[in-house]
Amino acid sequence: MKPIIDILEQRVSDVMAVVAGESADAPAAIIKSSANPQFGDYQANGVMALAKKIKQNPRELAQQIVAKLDVGDMCEPPEVAGPGFINFRLKPGWLAQRLTEAICDPRRLGIDSCENPPTTVVDFSGPNIAKQMHVGHLRSTIIGDTIARVLEFWYGNPDKVIRQNHVGDWGTQFGMLVQYLIQHRINLAISSMQGSEADSLANLEDLYRKSKESFDNDPQFAASSRDCVVKLHNKDSSVMPFWQSIVKTSLDECQKIYDSLGVNLTEHDVRGESFYNDKLPSVISELSAAKLLQESDGAQCVFLDGFKTKEGEPLPMIVQKSDGAYLYATTDLAAIQYRVGQLRADRIIYVTDSRQKLHFEMLFACVRQAGWAGESVRLEHVPFGSVLGDDGKPFKTRSGENVKLKSLLDEAELRARQVVEEKNPDLPPDLKQRIAHAVGVGAVKYADLSNNLVTDYIFNWDKMLAMEGNTAPYMQYAYARVQSIFRKGQVDVADLLAQNHSLELAAPEEIGLAKLLLRYGEVVETVARDLRPHLLTTYLFDLAQTFSGFYTNCPVLKAEGTSRNTRLLLCYQTGRTIQHGLGLLGIETIEQM
Ligand code: ARG
Repeated sequence: MKPIIDILEQRVSDVMAVVAGESADAPAAIIKSSANPQFGDYQANGVMALAKKIKQNPRELAQQIVAKLDVGDMCEPPEVAGPGFINFRLKPGWLAQRLTEAICDPRRLGIDSCENPPTTVVDFSGPNIAKQMHVGHLRSTIIGDTIARVLEFWYGNPDKVIRQNHVGDWGTQFGMLVQYLIQHRINLAISSMQGSEADSLANLEDLYRKSKESFDNDPQFAASSRDCVVKLHNKDSSVMPFWQSIVKTSLDECQKIYDSLGVNLTEHDVRGESFYNDKLPSVISELSAAKLLQESDGAQCVFLDGFKTKEGEPLPMIVQKSDGAYLYATTDLAAIQYRVGQLRADRIIYVTDSRQKLHFEMLFACVRQAGWAGESVRLEHVPFGSVLGDDGKPFKTRSGENVKLKSLLDEAELRARQVVEEKNPDLPPDLKQRIAHAVGVGAVKYADLSNNLVTDYIFNWDKMLAMEGNTAPYMQYAYARVQSIFRKGQVDVADLLAQNHSLELAAPEEIGLAKLLLRYGEVVETVARDLRPHLLTTYLFDLAQTFSGFYTNCPVLKAEGTSRNTRLLLCYQTGRTIQHGLGLLGIETIEQM
């Protein structure tokens, strides 16, 4: 089904074009859903702009448009309000018909997929090898996964979404890591096999620390490490297996975290910095051929219009240092060439913290100037803020270290388990554990996604695990509550759907809930376009609350005939919408809590 907002947009715009006549290009109708039900359900805001253009009184023009408008099938007679708004109120009969259609669509809840979806790369997670993932990477992983899920659904074709994990697996620090392994005859594959999981993680961290120590204090070690960098560069077979073992051990650890988070990322999505290594010289030569390269203090730089230092001097993007080394930016340039050229991407989305804002601005400007990505390719950076502790400072452990993702997720599950024990002590232990996992992981994800991305967010266990308020447990509970209605009434959903059900929306709570359910598609579309997941959590929270109001005022199981049927179907569609929406956020639902 076409979204209501689009149907109205089309019909009002058509009339506006007629009224404007051939002389003027009519502006869009600009339909918005109304924040206040007093003004109806939807509002057209574009009439004032047209009035200005064709020099007419906006209210009179709005009247004229209303007179010509044919929306009687779906709306009560539209009303002109204020300086020239048009308000629309949907008819209950029409709502019931649409809702039936949405209910009967088993897969897409009545939501059309977009036309001609662009092939889209979502670049997210991007941990750095040999270091543990920490809460900073958590945000990229969670937000990126959600964006990919939303786009897959909205595009209606999962093949159009390509996940790319741009891991930091290359660079001079690997020289010292490999040198350390060689010198101390450490075989990572064996040591991680012998040790527990935690050991292999700790091993890598340890390795990083110790090799750095040697590098800083032992000139001979530092010299051999530099040799090692050169060997790595030449893919020398005496060092490559060591590098590979480091990368593998580290990625295996990351994979465990992705799996326990329920994030759709696998080894197939990994295309780390090392992948682009042999493509870097040609990046430089092509920039040079495009006359974009300039030498500055021995380094190769690109100077782009509009980028200045604080002092007002031109700010260069350095692509090769004086010693010949390439940079993060050089690799990202190669990655864009690959994504546009090989993956045929029409849209590339980068999910990183906001400190990389300038990097991506320069990167995008550079590929535009070099002509490597034409205007038809959309390049988007989705920046996000930091995770803060209760004290408003960067989130750290009590002893001041970065919080490890693994211990964080363990704690989430433990705390969620306590909540389950309190609520439902009689459940079987393995079910309790399953619920605890879903609630714990869900709470962490939801807390992250329900904030406006760019603002820093405060990590607070009590808040994110609260059963009240805009939290995962509240949403999961709302879903479980709907399921409990069906259990209590011994309603068979398949039977319910198989019946020839004519929905009749009568009570204001029924009508309100139906309208909100039918807005789900609009919300998904907005999230897919603007890449702002919190709009989805806000909607779901609103839906759960509206459902609560409905359930308090409209008895379901005690109702009779068409009314019972209607209410059961409203429950059914609410449950599915919550489940589907949480699914787009990568959060599981549970049947009982
Ligand atoms: N490894 C990087 C970091 O931890 C993130 C990579 C983001 N993606 C990219 N194409 N630059 O900061």
